[in-house]
Amino acid sequence: MSNKCAIFDLDGVLVDTARYHYLAWKELAEKLGFEFTIEHNEMLKGVSRMTSLDILLEVGNLKDAFTEEEKVKMATEKNNRYVEYISNIDESEILDGALSLLQELKQKGIKVALGSASKNAQIILKNVGIEEYFDVIVDGNSVSKAKPDPEVFTLGAETLGISYDECVVFEDSQAGLEAAKIAGMLAIGVGQEKDLTNADVVYSTLKDFDIERYF
Ligand code: G6P
Ligand code: MG
Repeated sequence: MSNKCAIFDLDGVLVDTARYHYLAWKELAEKLGFEFTIEHNEMLKGVSRMTSLDILLEVGNLKDAFTEEEKVKMATEKNNRYVEYISNIDESEILDGALSLLQELKQKGIKVALGSASKNAQIILKNVGIEEYFDVIVDGNSVSKAKPDPEVFTLGAETLGISYDECVVFEDSQAGLEAAKIAGMLAIGVGQEKDLTNADVVYSTLKDFDIERYF
């Protein structure tokens, strides 16, 4: 196949940040007096910060307990904690197979884009040392619509002048895979097949991805 562009989600695909999101959300839940488990955390993958907070509050039966202003304050507090965690990360947090795939794509002359909902994407890429591989970075600061809206992927393709059907998206969330499909892009799931029913094909890690088959 002759796809021309690889678009990567960040959290859970390239870098193991999901556990830091989890730790920071869990601390907030504890302060509010309820338990937030790793299973609950699954629901937050690929979801924007404020929507994540809404889901968390629903878990704690506190859905309508706070004003918008209080919610912004809580989300900011969670983010400050999260930023503390990620300020110390390094290349050891890069997920299996991600670095070699980025290198191979570059060698083949394939364009590489980031398509992440995170407003912290730039600092994460910089801290783990993979910023240089990206031709375009689209993150939570550049888009207004959250996945499954495809904006975070289509904006990257448009910036690079590549048609959507020549793009391959790598995602670990159902919302992100759905976004890729809506855009008409090939949706590669990274994770467990049972969780990623929206994917065209699922690999348990990027290490198993067969680059020759798709690029
Ligand atoms: C990614 C993660 C989500 C997170 C979102 C926003 O999509 O999978 O869990 O809520 O980014 O991240 P941010 O760093 O802006 O709070
Ligand atoms: Mg993700």
